[in-house]
Amino acid sequence: MSKKLCLLFLITLGIICTFVISKNLTSDQTPTKHHTFRQILQAPSDPLDKPFSLPPAKNTTGNIPSVFFTPKAPKPTKLNTTCAKFPDLFDLQFRNDHWQLQKTSTGSLFLFNAYFDRRGGDFVRIITMFTQHPPETQFWCQFWYQNSTKPVIVESEAPFWLFSRKWGADRGQFVHPYLIKCPVKGAPFGVSLVEKPCDNASNVLQIFGKETVVKKNFVVCVKGLNFPFEDKSLRLVEWIELLQILGVEKINFYEFRVHPNTKRLLDYYEDRGLVEVTPISLLENFSNNPPLQSLFLHKKVIERRLQEVIPYNDCLYKHLDEFKFVVLLDTDEVIIPVEETWLQLIQTLEENQPNRSSYMARNVYFLDNNLHQHEWFKDVPQHMHMLQHVIRARNYTKPGHFVKGFHDTRKVEALHNHFPLKCLKGCDHVSINVSLAHLQHYRTGCARGVSSKTCDQMRDDTVMDTRIWNFKQELIRRVDRVSTNLGLL
Ligand SMILES: *[C@@H]1O[C@H](CO)[C@@H](O)[C@H](O)[C@H]1NC(C)=O
Ligand SMILES: *[C@@H]1O[C@H](CO)[C@@H](O)[C@H](O)[C@H]1NC(C)=O
Ligand SMILES: *[C@@H]1O[C@H](CO)[C@@H](O)[C@H](O)[C@H]1NC(C)=O
Ligand SMILES: *[C@@H]1O[C@H](CO)[C@@H](O)[C@H](O)[C@H]1NC(C)=O
Ligand SMILES: *[C@@H]1O[C@H](CO)[C@@H](O)[C@H](O)[C@H]1NC(C)=O
Ligand SMILES: *[C@@H]1O[C@H](CO)[C@@H](O)[C@H](O)[C@H]1NC(C)=O
Ligand SMILES: *[C@@H]1O[C@H](CO)[C@@H](O)[C@H](O)[C@H]1NC(C)=O
Ligand SMILES: *[C@@H]1O[C@H](CO)[C@@H](O)[C@H](O)[C@H]1NC(C)=O
Ligand SMILES: *[C@@H]1O[C@H](CO)[C@@H](O)[C@H](O)[C@H]1NC(C)=O
Repeated sequence: MSKKLCLLFLITLGIICTFVISKNLTSDQTPTKHHTFRQILQAPSDPLDKPFSLPPAKNTTGNIPSVFFTPKAPKPTKLNTTCAKFPDLFDLQFRNDHWQLQKTSTGSLFLFNAYFDRRGGDFVRIITMFTQHPPETQFWCQFWYQNSTKPVIVESEAPFWLFSRKWGADRGQFVHPYLIKCPVKGAPFGVSLVEKPCDNASNVLQIFGKETVVKKNFVVCVKGLNFPFEDKSLRLVEWIELLQILGVEKINFYEFRVHPNTKRLLDYYEDRGLVEVTPISLLENFSNNPPLQSLFLHKKVIERRLQEVIPYNDCLYKHLDEFKFVVLLDTDEVIIPVEETWLQLIQTLEENQPNRSSYMARNVYFLDNNLHQHEWFKDVPQHMHMLQHVIRARNYTKPGHFVKGFHDTRKVEALHNHFPLKCLKGCDHVSINVSLAHLQHYRTGCARGVSSKTCDQMRDDTVMDTRIWNFKQELIRRVDRVSTNLGLL
């Protein structure tokens, strides 16, 4: 009897412990939220839900052409009875939601998006990954039109590898990023990429891209955000508002997973048209369960870098016709001109050295522990990380290292994080003179690739650089407004 009671007691204890531990693991790691058991049990949902409502459910059909969702739309059929059948919606194959799968005799294509590129001819660009380098297969584009039952089938140009020798992916089992280009006639709504012209495809990508008469200036692209557990909203709000003050008209974030508060923040800006959030996932056999996804991105450096170029190039092609310059940044980086906005800066740069493919800003670290060598600045709220951190390394990192810049959408064809990989008439990117602007990089420590000796020197040999204060009043006002609206403080 007493044994049974004891067992029952232990089981109950076990259940309670499991509950507490699992709450710890799944709820966010910031300590202020649910303090007690009672609160955990009673909290209806996110207790921070202030009077802010989510935008209506977004269209999440992603890269699938809308013809599949328009009941009465006429659909293409095939070239002939044995060739190039237009797939049904459920003939399309997917991997991890966002990638359309096409098998070939030598590997698998994971297709992300397709875009028109009308520069120097009419082309469609497909952004994809493939399980082989270099590809031993040829590829064909089957173009699908609204007003025709038959596809037009053309051979692709040789796929462009969005990577480089020397970066450690030449050997071994990797999935490789490619840009595939097919000449196109007219305006097909969709394209299937296949190995042989008559193959029945298991993919159809919507072809995006619209002609715009007047281009806007700057779009910023951010590779897959992966902060599922850490609430980085206050840092992010300051960064987004600063970019807006500098003249950025759109920020395209790619998202693996973010903290619920960050999600609300991104929704808020998306609702207002400043931000677009594009979901992205790890490929194939890798888990997209948040803890595993984070670990993967942290540990599998080469795999991460191979996939990172997908969002960068996707963002480039998505905005080719709508923006003059594409700027790739991480959320701890910002290009700050000495005393003006990006628009004035780019005018100066183009006057000095017209028509370059890219203008690259040199990297300088604003390392965290520099902050605590001085008092907080009293006229700046303590949560404003960048405004509070105005001590930087005296020296820049080496020329060409860790640079970020403005890429001219008339010229660049393929982008890597730190420079263009390919341009229509050859890349002739230039370095921005540090007397005009530089890249402020806010980190706890230096990046991989900076020796710890050099990093220590940078930590010790510092200067005060307050150029960011040019925007101080406006930035404080804006951040305050948004974080109050959203209840982030
Ligand atoms: C829960 O998390 C807090 C803070 O992260 C930690 O101090 C505590 O030990 C954790 N409790 C359990 C049961 O894991
Ligand atoms: C989704 O997109 C389709 C076609 O673009 C449109 O007709 C429909 O109203 C959209 N749905 C929502 C919920 O926005
Ligand atoms: C279908 O089209 C392909 C490609 O043009 C051609 O090779 C094939 O002979 C055609 N088949 C029939 C049955 O017409
Ligand atoms: C489809 O329409 C385009 C123009 O919108 C035209 O150039 C093309 O000839 C048409 N194709 C057919 C098969 O009618
Ligand atoms: C494509 O599908 C058709 C049936 O719609 C079939 O007759 C043909 O053999 C298939 N072609 C290939 C290359 O598999
Ligand atoms: C995923 O796993 C399957 C089965 O083990 C394997 O055939 C395939 O090549 C793997 N995919 C990739 C991209 O490694
Ligand atoms: C810059 O290039 C564009 C097209 O690429 C051309 O129209 C323009 O004349 C060029 N400007 C200068 C100053 O070379
Ligand atoms: C950068 O600008 C400064 C000041 O205008 C000038 O003295 C210096 O020569 C420039 N450096 C380069 C590399 O052009
Ligand atoms: C900074 O750069 C100067 C000139 O290149 C060099 O002499 C000095 O050692 C560097 N200082 C540090 C702390 O790296």
